[in-house]
Amino acid sequence: MPYDFDKVTNRFSTASAKWDEVGNLFGEDDLLPMWVADMDFVSPDPVIAAIKQRAGHGIFGYTTIPGSYYEAVIEWMKIRHNWCIKKEWICYSPGIVPALSYIVQSFTHPGDKVVIQSPVYYPFSNVVTDNGREVVHNPLTFEDGRYSMDFDDLRRKLEPDVKLLILCSPHNPSGRIWTKEELTELGNICIEHNIIVVSDEIHCDLILNGKTHTPFAAISDQFAQNTIVCTAPSKTFNLAGLQTSNVIIPNTKLRETFQMTMNKLALRRPNTFGIVATESAYRYGQDWLDQLLDYLQRNLEFLTEYIEENIKGIKVIKPEASYLVWLDCRELGLSNEELQQFMLKQAKVAFNQGFTYGPGGEGFIRMNIGCPRSLVEKGLRRMNNALQKLNCITK
Ligand SMILES: Cc1ncc(COP(=O)(O)O)c(C=O)c1O
Repeated sequence: MPYDFDKVTNRFSTASAKWDEVGNLFGEDDLLPMWVADMDFVSPDPVIAAIKQRAGHGIFGYTTIPGSYYEAVIEWMKIRHNWCIKKEWICYSPGIVPALSYIVQSFTHPGDKVVIQSPVYYPFSNVVTDNGREVVHNPLTFEDGRYSMDFDDLRRKLEPDVKLLILCSPHNPSGRIWTKEELTELGNICIEHNIIVVSDEIHCDLILNGKTHTPFAAISDQFAQNTIVCTAPSKTFNLAGLQTSNVIIPNTKLRETFQMTMNKLALRRPNTFGIVATESAYRYGQDWLDQLLDYLQRNLEFLTEYIEENIKGIKVIKPEASYLVWLDCRELGLSNEELQQFMLKQAKVAFNQGFTYGPGGEGFIRMNIGCPRSLVEKGLRRMNNALQKLNCITK
């Protein structure tokens, strides 16, 4: 069935972080929220139907994860990513950011070091430092508008107290899909230095333009034994509020250690609706997802054309995956603070500010285009009008 992604749905007063928190958080009224990574689209019909049906039952006692849930996850990984996983590898977590924190707690000690590849999704850094561990930055290189990994820099930084590397694959905020060759080189370096790879693949279903995502643990058995893969239906089907994700750990010892932390934290029983939604999304959401990807691709083309035609001083770093667009605003010549204030006070759009993603993010903003095209256009127009005024003032 055709889905209508152009439809604008009012999200105010739905306990939405993106819409209900934006004013307080950014300190301005009438902001268009294009920040936190959820979408302004209604989830697939079969998911909504399954939740309604379960709600109609009326009893919401303690949960257990049914076999059919695991089957749906296994089938999804096989069909979408050609990755064969086993039921016992799948561990529940209420979210991927919480999972990253449990992983840091499980596999490192206070004072140990964790590598991240900045600029990168800022909670990576937070889960490390909030747990009393140290971040080691292995900044991505940025040449001709494209990000790549700096393996020489990585090798130089791998001292014995580095225990983990958190990989973002596909990468947020650049939208890069890492090639199998890049991932292989990274994995080999980590194995050589006894470093566990935590591969956050939460964006892996949102692949644009017919490209392919390589699951890190699918590259070889050796990689699988050294990898913890974080996946979820939350970005793919817009289910973040249901707080259900899957941490896939093929190595028995690593899995048992992770599960011990989950037991210590008494995190065993998922939310009823999260189970139902995940299973139905993975079973019946393919058609919706394919249509979504098509829509997102066209949003991206619309945005790129608009900026190229109308906005000087901002360059689009074209994502290969997901609905987050990294915009290079450095030619505007504004400081981090000025750029933030300009977007909030003059343009009236709430973006994520690049400097929060760590070294290399300064002068960039991250724009969320997981919304009806009319909202993308509204955000761009607001930015364009404000920039024209800015140019008048500075000329
Ligand atoms: C790379 C990455 N990991 C994790 C998350 C959030 O995961 P969760 O909501 O399951 O904590 C996001 C959300 O934007 C993300 O981009």
